Amino acid sequence: MVVEQQLRAYVDYLRDMGIYDLYRREDPKVMLPEGLKERLAVARPAAPVVRSAAATQAVAAQGVGARTSVAASAAAAGAARMVSVAREAVPTAVDPEWREVESSMPKPPSLDAVGVVPVERLAAGERAVALQAVREDIGECTRCPLAYAGRRNIVFGDGDPNARLMFVGEGPGADEDETGVPFVGKAGQLLNNMITAMGLKREEVYIANIVKCRPPANRVPEFVEATTCSQFLARQIDVVRPEVIVALGATAATYLLGVKQPLASLRGQWHSVRGAKVAVTYHPAFLLRDPRQKGEAWKDLQRVMVEMGLSAPRRAT
Ligand code: URA
Repeated sequence: MVVEQQLRAYVDYLRDMGIYDLYRREDPKVMLPEGLKERLAVARPAAPVVRSAAATQAVAAQGVGARTSVAASAAAAGAARMVSVAREAVPTAVDPEWREVESSMPKPPSLDAVGVVPVERLAAGERAVALQAVREDIGECTRCPLAYAGRRNIVFGDGDPNARLMFVGEGPGADEDETGVPFVGKAGQLLNNMITAMGLKREEVYIANIVKCRPPANRVPEFVEATTCSQFLARQIDVVRPEVIVALGATAATYLLGVKQPLASLRGQWHSVRGAKVAVTYHPAFLLRDPRQKGEAWKDLQRVMVEMGLSAPRRAT
């Protein structure tokens, strides 16, 4: 029921934006009406334009008729995200926009709720093929509205199918959408540095996201989008069976763990999902915006290293 309300709110919100023809299943080729892509992509203004929650609520309340209050507030949150597009990518625990999203959305299910974790672990040699099978099941996905929001490539995952360590981010940005590979932009370069600092190579870990398609204007994935996509992330985790998963940022933590808590309250402790231990840390895009938090993120990664028996590479003197 909650999912239905969210979906309804999403559709209402698009209707309020004058978008009527977005969620067509029968012919993906005719899905984007003239000019819609531009409207969804929303040109980035020079300075952030962030409406207050109250103003956004007021706008969303106009003309919503008999819409439910849950739907109205979800639509308001959606509208707020569309007018606040100047930020780089990815919200974080200290991002006021994130808090607005968080307060309006229902508590998501944990990834543990997505089917039973298989008892048997696949043999090492079978995992690459199993991941390929998951990718094939995704196909040219049209299961959620992100399929119609200007995506170029589905960004499935990258790295070693036998990895002991997995990183989960929020969703593809422009560079990832372009290449089909997660974390290849600026945030990806920082993630690579973080992996190297842990004494690992990028090829030795597995990297995926909560959603596999780029949200327009790098907005936070909607509840319906994240919960629709999570079945595939769950299957990726079940195939790789990492010992440790690092949730990068609030969105990853929220949808992996099924919690609605600030990131700060999730850091510094071990969680678990689908048989893996989960550590929560800041998203690299946030660390690019606020490099003072890199020391805190490094503390999180050091806990992971201790857990996994990893030691940092020696620096040349
Ligand atoms: N941010 C993410 O969360 N994921 C990516 O793949 C790239 C940027």
